[in-house]
Amino acid sequence: MSENSSHNQATRAISSGRGANDGGLSVPIWATAVWESDSAEHAYEMAHSVGPDEFYSRHGNPTMSAFADAVADIEGAEAALSFASGMGALASVVFALCSTGSHIVATTQIYGTTATFLNGPVARMGIETTWVNGSEPGAMAAAVIPGRTMLVIAETPSNPMLDIVDLDELGAIKGPFTMVDSTLATPFGQQPIRHGVDLVLHSATKGIAGHNDATLGVVSGEQELLDDIWRYGILHGASASPFDAMLALRGIRTLDVRQQRQSDIALDIATRLEAHSAIETVHYPGLPEHPQHDRAAAQMTRFGSVVSFQLKDGDGFARLVERLNLLRCATSFGGPETLICESWTTTHSGLDEDARRAMGIHPGFIRMSIGLEDVDDLWDDLDGSLSAI
Ligand SMILES: Cc1ncc(COP(=O)(O)O)c(C=O)c1O
Repeated sequence: MSENSSHNQATRAISSGRGANDGGLSVPIWATAVWESDSAEHAYEMAHSVGPDEFYSRHGNPTMSAFADAVADIEGAEAALSFASGMGALASVVFALCSTGSHIVATTQIYGTTATFLNGPVARMGIETTWVNGSEPGAMAAAVIPGRTMLVIAETPSNPMLDIVDLDELGAIKGPFTMVDSTLATPFGQQPIRHGVDLVLHSATKGIAGHNDATLGVVSGEQELLDDIWRYGILHGASASPFDAMLALRGIRTLDVRQQRQSDIALDIATRLEAHSAIETVHYPGLPEHPQHDRAAAQMTRFGSVVSFQLKDGDGFARLVERLNLLRCATSFGGPETLICESWTTTHSGLDEDARRAMGIHPGFIRMSIGLEDVDDLWDDLDGSLSAI
């Protein structure tokens, strides 16, 4: 955490991550792969130090560090490490902390590619995952195998069902490392470290960078644990690009206001969707009807930019896309443009049909990422198109 930690989070988002600026107000892009050493001793020292900023950019880079420092600061963490993507961050954590024979506990409501990764390459390395319902009290702790479970991974809110995991319960698990994928919340929506969770992962591609123009991941936690992850991470090689780190640090400066506005619009649209005749169900943790609304209200300061819904007509997605004029069909979230995608055919299509259905994902299940447009313009487009399918 930086020296600015006495300030409130909104202020820290502006004042943090300025270590590489050298007097400029914005962070320079250190577009260099390598630094020159002025002596053999210095070269040796750099090659043997953890996370050096000026040695070789796979090991570290001032722009990457400025971004990571800013994330740690708004997350309330001791430190953070940046990666080339959210998946690069996840793979680096899993392979840094687990070995053949290790065991992972993960929540079934999770980003499809995370599930594909754990069930595929991770399982192939002899690392077993037990899947649990993360919103069922006690389920995560009950699945821990003492001495074997190295990692408990929860995603909250989950993509795309918006299920909520109790962060206090996760943080209280002792033995394995605990990690939350907090991408949908962003550090302005919740701070899992304050609940005792060891590691917080974000796909910074989403709300943190916030403009659909950067691909990046970040993990926050205690310095010592991050050093261990770094030691593996430089072998894995999913290091962040300085250019994307600059874009994401710029995103952090406006994250508070962007996310507040997106959360406000999301709640408004979710409420209107609930009454729409073309809709079967709406999922949004800010709705009082959401099954874990009270838990969400207790641990989140805002409910985020993603709203999901099931069309009554399971084949209706293609016709909906044809009719929309303002909303765009694309598979990310957290940016300025409002986007929709069908989870069945995109984000979760790497899972077999039974696995998708077990997660509650059926044809016509739509994830909507609320952007920054005017709420009435969005509703006119959505309402008119839904009514016509
Ligand atoms: C919740 C969540 N975690 C992780 C990822 C992976 O992030 P990236 O696409 O930056 O690798 C995503 C991507 O959509 C996501 O939604």
